[in-house]
Amino acid sequence: MKTHSLLSLTVTLLGFLSQCLTRLTPRVSFPMGSPGRHLTRFNSHDVSNTTTLLLSEGGDMLYVGARDALLALDVSHKDAIILKTKRDWSPSDKDVEQCSMKGKKMADCPNFIRVLQYLNASHIYACGTFAFSPRCTYVDSETLSMSINPDEGRGRCPYDPYQRNTAIIVDGELYTGTVADYRGNRPVISRHLSEGRRVDLKLDDTLGWLEDPTFISSSFIPDEEKIYFFFSEVGREYDFINKFIVSRVSQICMSDIGGQRTLQRRWTTFAKAQLLCQADNELPYNVIQDIDTLPPAKGASADDTLFYGIFTSQWSVNSGQSAVCSFRLSDIKSVFSGNYKVLNRDTLQWSTRVQEKVANPGECGLHNASDNALRFVKENFLTDDSVRPVGRSLTMVSAEHKYSHLTVQRIQAANSRDYTVLFLLTESGYLHKAVLLPSGAHIIEEVKVFAQTQPIKSLKLSIPKVNTERAIYSMCPV
Ligand SMILES: *[C@@H]1O[C@H](CO)[C@@H](O)[C@H](O)[C@H]1NC(C)=O
Ligand SMILES: *[C@@H]1O[C@H](CO)[C@@H](O)[C@H](O)[C@H]1NC(C)=O
Ligand SMILES: *[C@@H]1O[C@H](CO)[C@@H](O)[C@H](O)[C@H]1NC(C)=O
Repeated sequence: MKTHSLLSLTVTLLGFLSQCLTRLTPRVSFPMGSPGRHLTRFNSHDVSNTTTLLLSEGGDMLYVGARDALLALDVSHKDAIILKTKRDWSPSDKDVEQCSMKGKKMADCPNFIRVLQYLNASHIYACGTFAFSPRCTYVDSETLSMSINPDEGRGRCPYDPYQRNTAIIVDGELYTGTVADYRGNRPVISRHLSEGRRVDLKLDDTLGWLEDPTFISSSFIPDEEKIYFFFSEVGREYDFINKFIVSRVSQICMSDIGGQRTLQRRWTTFAKAQLLCQADNELPYNVIQDIDTLPPAKGASADDTLFYGIFTSQWSVNSGQSAVCSFRLSDIKSVFSGNYKVLNRDTLQWSTRVQEKVANPGECGLHNASDNALRFVKENFLTDDSVRPVGRSLTMVSAEHKYSHLTVQRIQAANSRDYTVLFLLTESGYLHKAVLLPSGAHIIEEVKVFAQTQPIKSLKLSIPKVNTERAIYSMCPV
């Protein structure tokens, strides 16, 4: 019988750090079940597809969105993960029957929970695919009881459980990137749960603002009052290569309320830029796999916020390899405030023709700009420049490992210096801990977390007390 697990791993912090590390091979390797690396496992035969994780602020409680169920797990204990509450949330037999009559596989017709976000101090907002008819509901975070009348989930959650999405709630509003139709070919970035003058917004869909994207993540930067979305998509500006994938960062302003005539109920502040994870004169690692935000150190400017991403390559020369690149918020901001490419509406080809700037695309507060300015914004949303990585170089490259997930932390070591530590999961079930030193990235530890190769769906890191970290994963068997 297949088991689906949630694992929690306690590892010590920077215990092996020394300045003379030089190689990208792990300094210490821990096989499964090593006494020094305490692995706690939660298994339940009736819980599966535990893809969506939400950690409480204190890191004591882990909410898990699974197939047809929502769980609250107490993860505050060192030796055990304790199930506190479990609620079923499944479509009716009739819903499932309709789903399968429409030609979908029975196995894909349950409700796969794909959005799990804190709405306020007492409630979580959850959305699931619900037999290819997505729904959302308010969940009491103590009891997990759900609202009686669920919301329609269109535009908030994918229909197809294999499609990736991203969602974030800020000030009670839900910002999402997902496909908004049954067939899966209408991608949209939108805002929901807005009230009063703050109307729900979405992308204008007359021009291809998104080109077959795979959504990876979204991040709220309070000082900017902006939400950034990370995804990969087909790079139409490269018309010389068939289906060239590019990685993107896009932005929207929270203050946006759409235009008055042009761009009514549509974003006036959407802009996108290429994220380039590439060393000079080499092929780019063009496909973003995961990204995490590292807030600035205490006292530093918000512009020093960093985004660490894992990238793989579309080309066979680099297949099986992955790279980590970091991007600085100030670089992203300067690309968004620079020049934009011009889209020829007849041929849908991009060019970099110099044009008179009628408005500044990506600028916040354009909602009562003139129609002329908004038309300009509507057609100029792709930046001319790409965002280059910090130091114009790769943070780390692995020739042997294909990394799929990462989290990043700034950690104070015993010598009271700050270090940036990356936790990277490999596709073959290893956790790598890498510390970034001036001399480069050094993998200081490797822990085998699964006996066999396992596709891992999510990774969360919580730091319950000084000098201990716990990485929590959710995984599904092959
Ligand atoms: C949180 O939101 C829910 C749903 O709108 C509402 O019923 C509840 O009263 C809110 N709780 C708080 C603490 O604001
Ligand atoms: C759910 O888990 C099963 C068993 O691991 C897997 O075959 C299936 O692809 C998963 N479904 C989704 C939508 O991820
Ligand atoms: C924009 O519109 C709002 C209300 O619609 C108004 O209060 C504000 O003065 C306007 N700003 C400008 C610069 O016209």
